[in-house]
Amino acid sequence: MSGLCVIGLQWGDEAKGKLVDLLTAEQEVVVRYQGGANAGHTVVVGDKTYKLHHVPSGILNPNVMNVITGGVVLNPPTLLDEIASLTARDIRVADNLKISDRAHLVMPWHLAEDRALDRATPGDDNIGTTLRGIGPCYRDKVGRAHAIRMGDMFRGDFADRVRSICAVKRTLITGMGGADLAETLDAERIIEQYRAFAEQLRPLVDDTTHYLLDAVEQGRKVLFEGAQGALLDIDHGTFPFVTSSNSSGLGVCAGSGVPPRWIDKVIGVAKCYSTRVGGGPFPTELHDEIGQRIRDVGREYGTTTGRPRRCGWFDAVAVRYTARLSGVDTLAMMMLDVLSCVDEIKVCVAYDIDGQPVTRFPSHVDSLRRAKPIFETLPGWNVDVTGIRNYDDLPSNARSYLDRISELVGRPVEIVSVGPDRVQTMFRRLA
Ligand code: GDP
Ligand code: IMO
Ligand code: MG
Repeated sequence: MSGLCVIGLQWGDEAKGKLVDLLTAEQEVVVRYQGGANAGHTVVVGDKTYKLHHVPSGILNPNVMNVITGGVVLNPPTLLDEIASLTARDIRVADNLKISDRAHLVMPWHLAEDRALDRATPGDDNIGTTLRGIGPCYRDKVGRAHAIRMGDMFRGDFADRVRSICAVKRTLITGMGGADLAETLDAERIIEQYRAFAEQLRPLVDDTTHYLLDAVEQGRKVLFEGAQGALLDIDHGTFPFVTSSNSSGLGVCAGSGVPPRWIDKVIGVAKCYSTRVGGGPFPTELHDEIGQRIRDVGREYGTTTGRPRRCGWFDAVAVRYTARLSGVDTLAMMMLDVLSCVDEIKVCVAYDIDGQPVTRFPSHVDSLRRAKPIFETLPGWNVDVTGIRNYDDLPSNARSYLDRISELVGRPVEIVSVGPDRVQTMFRRLA
């Protein structure tokens, strides 16, 4: 058994990147297996900050192989920019990254479709995507006829495929009210650009399914880095306000090609409060000064889009659900330091839906929209905890808060983070 998974349990941005980088020291392979450049994973090492979108957060450790599997949707120019900026900062990428030939490509028409759909969807129905072409690319993957995979760029019929798909997409996007966007799609230019991307990426492309099967069968230590969070899971999240992949723990095997028998442990990552970017219901959202304070202190602005994140109290109904769904063994509780800015802390222990107390996370977004949080209030600690390195040295109110979360979620807290840096992390020995 050699697979360790790091899975976000909320709506993304739980600090998965920080944790993966930290855990990488004891791993041999780090794998991104779903999502694409909608992800923005931040790793802080001393005075340096790295923002990763496609590349696994193991890349800062030169002894680790990083793998982008066929479950990821990949935008070649964005990936090449990411690789170039890492290389310019003396991070070794060329020998330490493998990309699946099965990965589906985000093409320029996917970006245009994402934007056209966003423009055409007003108000509360707008998903507020990252506009990275993720949904349209996954839609074409499932639809098959208009999909292009990494390996297809090296085939003789690539140019003809681009020409025929581009023609269909121009009509489609025009029909969506995006004539101006369709106008920018020039098949001959795309063919020329993508041929150049293909040559640059060629040395990194491999059959990662076999590589990972060999790795786990040989007992090598493999870490699976989730992107987004379980509440954004296409099948089990707050549909339709979700992303287009299985971002809960359920996505690990399908996305990577590694069967469940090799998964040894799942760490669920959650913030000590909640955030959400984009549209969709968020029962514990704060619309007041406290929400703004958490946003300011936690620097809650999107890593990928820079959008302000919506902030609210910790939702134990939601996280208990996603911890169960993701097969979580232990919890990593992040951003504890941010809650030092409030005098008392609320935790949602149940919802009131149409006058009924509910502790099961609802399957339909309409029920979630009507859910009024039932809060429990705990005392804050009001002291700076960013310099604390041992769990037992945390203020007793902070420990009580973590104990209560653990009890409500039904999983032990193994890791606590009090700042962005690697050193601002505590590991607890669990019985
Ligand atoms: P990810 O997408 O899950 O990897 O998370 P992001 O990188 O999008 O967002 C997490 C943000 O919180 C980043 O800016 C991190 O540097 C920062 N961060 C990570 N852990 C902590 C923590 O314990 N406290 C504080 N204040 N910031 C943290
Ligand atoms: P990381 O990996 C936070 C959200 C978007 C939008 C919805 C659908 O950094 O945690 P998409 O572009 O995927 O079609 O957008 O999902 N979203 C994220 N929110 N963190 C992310 O990734 C996200 N990736 C997508 O804001 O609401
Ligand atoms: Mg992020």
